[in-house]
Amino acid sequence: MTSPSNQSRAWVEIDLPAIDRNVGRIKQALPRHVRYVAVVKADAYGHGMPEVARRLLQAGVDAFAVANVAEAIRLREVGHEGDTLLLSPTLPDEVARAAENGFDLTINSLEEAKAFAAWGAAHGRKVRVHVKVDTGMGRAGVWHERAHAVFAEVLASPGLEWRGVYTHFSDADADAVYTAQQRRIFLDLLEAIPAAVRAKLLIHADNSAGLESFSAASPFNAVRIGLMQYGLPPSAGSFLASLKPDPVLSFHARVVLVKDLPKGTAVSYNRTKTLGRDSRVAVVAVGYGDGVPTAASNRGFFLVRGHRCPILGRVTMDQTVIDVTDVPAAAVGDVATILGAQGADRITVAEFCAWSDCIPWEALCTLTQRVQRVYRTDRT
Ligand SMILES: Cc1ncc(COP(=O)(O)O)c(C=O)c1O
Repeated sequence: MTSPSNQSRAWVEIDLPAIDRNVGRIKQALPRHVRYVAVVKADAYGHGMPEVARRLLQAGVDAFAVANVAEAIRLREVGHEGDTLLLSPTLPDEVARAAENGFDLTINSLEEAKAFAAWGAAHGRKVRVHVKVDTGMGRAGVWHERAHAVFAEVLASPGLEWRGVYTHFSDADADAVYTAQQRRIFLDLLEAIPAAVRAKLLIHADNSAGLESFSAASPFNAVRIGLMQYGLPPSAGSFLASLKPDPVLSFHARVVLVKDLPKGTAVSYNRTKTLGRDSRVAVVAVGYGDGVPTAASNRGFFLVRGHRCPILGRVTMDQTVIDVTDVPAAAVGDVATILGAQGADRITVAEFCAWSDCIPWEALCTLTQRVQRVYRTDRT
């Protein structure tokens, strides 16, 4: 593990061939007719949208999903002219930009359906839409009991091209019973769509935690995959659970100071840690300004020279102090690994999240712009 350049103090390494392998495994596990919609919102979960989107396309994903029109336009800038679904509601003043670019807008209410249809009619165009049904997530989507009216509006609107219908599970990684209930509500609702129309729609619900086995009888014909393509394993209940994705991202920073401190010294802000022995400490050039949460203070570990070194005291904006007493060779310039492998050891995203009181999506998305993204393109 070397620093990517003399200037780099904190960086993430993104293993692009690992993305290829993960996409390959997921595609192989999915029935052929199921389309792979790659979720690349929030700068491809912090990995860097342009590089990751290009790689995902090469790896054979069918379409992209992003949060909003600005993210979708960034995809156009990297040369993606294909299907792009906007997952979040579209603001009235964003509709023109989204529709003119040919993105797939999500309809979350009757009002949105009417507004998109009116724009299409006024401009002699068909706005491409997916209807999102809220089956129990309580966030975006039209509440399922009101979905029939939206279906009818879309069917009756010449200004709309109905391309898909979907829902989102709130607890797919933890509660199979609740997920089954959401799925049932959604499947029952699909019956309200005329069969000839339904046959042409993209019908999707599952994310990486998907529990659906996609039998031939299943009407689902697309999945929206985020986390797993970035190397995080799906939950135990998922039908993809046997797949072992390869880690994609690792996070490193350099040791900028090593010094000895006597027993009884208080370390970092608010003196939350007092050294219980004469200690050698290392100051690492990384902090919450880079994506190490203060919750990891006195709980987390960094790897230095292959050893786990505990974080001492409060994580600060630019620097974190670790205990290197048991790593006597530790020196200025050493690489400290915050996430990923060093020597025989590895700090997993799950461990990092446990120390940091956060969820995997959050750990990746909160890596800040100050952290240099380094892309590995060679095969491992
Ligand atoms: C609507 C929607 N679908 C799919 C996904 C992808 O989920 P995952 O990253 O768990 O695969 C997300 C992620 O936040 C989402 O919001």
